[in-house]
Amino acid sequence: MTRPVNLDTLRELELLDVLPHLWRTGTPAGAPATSPEAPQRTSTPAVVAPGTQRAPKAPIAAQPLPVPADPARAARIAALDWRALNEDMAACRACRLCERRKQAVPGVGALDASWLFVGEGPGAEEDEQGEPFVGQAGKLLDAMLAAAGLQRGREVYIANVVKCRPPGNRTPSPDEAEACAPYLDRQINLIRPKIIVALGKTAVTRLTGRDTSMASLRLQRFEYQGIPLVATYHPAYLLRNLPDKLKAWEDLVFARRVRAETR
Ligand code: URA
Repeated sequence: MTRPVNLDTLRELELLDVLPHLWRTGTPAGAPATSPEAPQRTSTPAVVAPGTQRAPKAPIAAQPLPVPADPARAARIAALDWRALNEDMAACRACRLCERRKQAVPGVGALDASWLFVGEGPGAEEDEQGEPFVGQAGKLLDAMLAAAGLQRGREVYIANVVKCRPPGNRTPSPDEAEACAPYLDRQINLIRPKIIVALGKTAVTRLTGRDTSMASLRLQRFEYQGIPLVATYHPAYLLRNLPDKLKAWEDLVFARRVRAETR
């Protein structure tokens, strides 16, 4: 069961301090006028209290996704069990990211998780430890999970679009995301989560086929293979754009509502 939202965690996320500003003015004190991913809203407050959040609308189907470059490989991966899948990822040489990785970083969490969070790709610490989101962005993700009444490893699985670290933490290229797509697809099919939360543009684009601003993607209910999908900011982006944490909080409240409506 998802636990109630925890006020201490909201304080930890520094959200309690900015909430009053936002409720009054629509913009937290000190917030920049614009940010690259989320243009400032001019009218309604950015956050709606959990009980009054607008009801999720009918799901928006994914745009057609790219056809696998190697259908035979995709079909082979689609039949793997967890053990074989992890071995396959560890040995994968389907794209150039294998050349500089220390190890592949498959994912972490409950294999029957209700919630699947999908990030972009491992960074240096993840490459070192073999687990997604263990660096600074991971600490923030854990706080976001806690604020939503969730916990890494319990009801939650965390994965990435690409399983190997892009050098210098650059954004994975479309062909790298495409080469790794059969792995994420197989993970989704084995877990069959009740909701997918796409963290950041790379994950949203991969899973919805939409390549547009996060501002226009958030607070919408998409579907991926029949599973409800919502989008929010990547934790690494939030570390650089603190006022947008409040929007991420709003996204998580929205996600909880979508989840509550899914059997
Ligand atoms: N950023 C990601 O997208 N994934 C990780 O695992 C770590 C940082």
